[in-house]
Amino acid sequence: MTAEERIEEPETMDEVPEEEKEEVEVEAKAETETETFEPSIVGILCNWCSYAGADLAGISRIQYPPNIRVVRVMCSGRVDPQLVIYTLLEGADGVLALGCHPGDCHYQSGNLEAQEKFEALLKVLRHTGMDERFQYEWVSASEGARFAEVVRGFTDHIRSLGPSPVPEDDIARFRLRAALREVSDFRLRWLIGRQRNIQENGDAYGQESDREKWDLVMDKVLRDQFIRAQIIERTLEGPASVEDMAEVIDADTVEIFRHVQRLRITGRVAIAGHRGHSPLYRATGVEAE
Ligand code: FES
Repeated sequence: MTAEERIEEPETMDEVPEEEKEEVEVEAKAETETETFEPSIVGILCNWCSYAGADLAGISRIQYPPNIRVVRVMCSGRVDPQLVIYTLLEGADGVLALGCHPGDCHYQSGNLEAQEKFEALLKVLRHTGMDERFQYEWVSASEGARFAEVVRGFTDHIRSLGPSPVPEDDIARFRLRAALREVSDFRLRWLIGRQRNIQENGDAYGQESDREKWDLVMDKVLRDQFIRAQIIERTLEGPASVEDMAEVIDADTVEIFRHVQRLRITGRVAIAGHRGHSPLYRATGVEAE
């Protein structure tokens, strides 16, 4: 910007042209909100390590941001991805899950199971654009200072992202509802629950599993399931053509059509009428999340 241009910039609202006033006011409001934004964070802590670590931070008078609301669970393995997505849907700006370090879990492998679930959850959340708002870490009972550091780091990170878009943004809520539907599917839950066992002991035919290949398969399964979950969410709102669906689903009409046919075969979507030459579909036998 040149010096001349800087001089011409309006200094008060009276100097702003009438047609630009609304835009300037919206920008100013957003700026003020960002400056005064205090994230609301839900921390889900395992009883035996992380909760004790939080306790130690308190007893030792180690300062950490007061933005975190703690939910105590017996083990990080108890944290269901549904719970995380539901918390984000309810408007939390961020969710932090903390458990014992690997090898320290009081239930032996609860945190290892949790890690598999959280990694899959992060992939699901990536499709919704909300993955940066979930983090998991290991904090032991003797790590009060680390607990404070993790909470501080996550709070700063969420502050830099700004408020959750969920309360204002229909598409953000739509995608999260689809993600919730996706992680509630029993076949996907079974697959995620089995993956550590398959990695360690091979598949049902005794074949060793290749982690890289497994991750590629999981990526594909998670994307396909997310598209199907979005189709169901969209058709629960009312009959929709494939073109209607493409307006809210991040996939082309050919891919959406392929998934619609799959959902028709499994009885979860049916033809509900026509608009011109385009069939309209509606969800059947499923309920709103
Ligand atoms: Fe802490 Fe399992 S008991 S993660």
